[in-house]
Amino acid sequence: MSTGKLLETLAGTRFPTPPIWLMRQAGRYLPEYRAVRADTGSFLDLCYTPDRAMEVTLQPVRRFGLDAAIIFSDILVVPDGLGQKVWFEEGEGPKLEPLTEPADFARLTRARLPEKLAPVYQAIRQTRSALAKGTALLGFAGAPFTLACYMIEGGGSRDFAKVKAWAYRHPDSFSLLIDLLVDAIVDHLVNQIDAGADAVQLFDTWAGLLPEEQLFSWSLEPMVRIAHAVHARHPKTPIIAFPRAIGPATLMYRRSDAFAALSIDTGIGAHWAARELQPHICLQGNLDPMMLVAGGVALEREATRILDKLGHGPFIFNLGHGVVPQTPPEHVAQLVEIVRNWKPSTS
Ligand code: CP3
Repeated sequence: MSTGKLLETLAGTRFPTPPIWLMRQAGRYLPEYRAVRADTGSFLDLCYTPDRAMEVTLQPVRRFGLDAAIIFSDILVVPDGLGQKVWFEEGEGPKLEPLTEPADFARLTRARLPEKLAPVYQAIRQTRSALAKGTALLGFAGAPFTLACYMIEGGGSRDFAKVKAWAYRHPDSFSLLIDLLVDAIVDHLVNQIDAGADAVQLFDTWAGLLPEEQLFSWSLEPMVRIAHAVHARHPKTPIIAFPRAIGPATLMYRRSDAFAALSIDTGIGAHWAARELQPHICLQGNLDPMMLVAGGVALEREATRILDKLGHGPFIFNLGHGVVPQTPPEHVAQLVEIVRNWKPSTS
């Protein structure tokens, strides 16, 4: 059993300073990542080569002494595991052969997912044994709605108009896709925990596209179902939910029956979050990733402001979204220093 600051924080222990890790902490901003990436075929080859996935997972932990590693993979391995064609085009992001009608997703199957994603689970096993006991290893998955966005759109999009048209016109068939994804995500998370992941995060990157009622049905409710099903197998494994860009609707996600923590994006005010969310649930977030690009005084001021507002309650320091490629690695080291040297004010 691994322990350490992050897991203990999720279990309710308070430390003088919060644990810290960063979404997308492995990636192109690190020269050592670019070296491994340049020497490996495609992005998915990197995800599916356990030695290399382990190496890039460990890089930011070695360099910065973060409290958690997050397994190097991608949310789109789930559609890949279901049999949808997924590839990454250099400089263009992910591409998928889009689902255009309900018959397209009748062809997707969970049967081969464990076998197809076995290299991810192998990477987790190896990484867990290479990591210090006090450093948590996080697994993750995309939430059903965000996966459906990429699967129907065939990649990223400015407005995700196709997925919305399908979901609003044909809610019954859209629900079937969401249900299939719930089952596949439960399999994927349980397999990651079986392999050694200490906690898992559900990324609902595009939740903010949905109006309130649909947000409930297609983001929150499926995420709660996933959490309950994962807990039926692994009752003690903490689940962190990240419903991005939903503003005050975050109030609905204070579900301590399902989630151990809520990851909040930069659009949520730290003061409001401390008052409305933190009394109910551990929070994670929410520094603007561009502050990490800026560095210097701007970074120091903003990180300290967040710590002063949220550092007194159950809290994990993180960004509001992922590290961007133009981030100078020295600024990450500066941020870790700021967080570790923070002194809670007594007022
Ligand atoms: O360090 C970590 O956080 C672990 C690895 C991780 C990646 N993707 C690696 C990656 C995680 C947790 C993800 C999640 C992910 N992937 C999300 C949810 C979080 C978010 O950012 O909103 C989403 C929407 C995706 C889908 C995805 N994968 C996109 C849109 C892109 C292209 C964007 C880009 O930065 O190029 C990817 C590719 C990707 N996933 C990269 C990395 C490091 C860049 C690929 C490269 O090396 O060129």
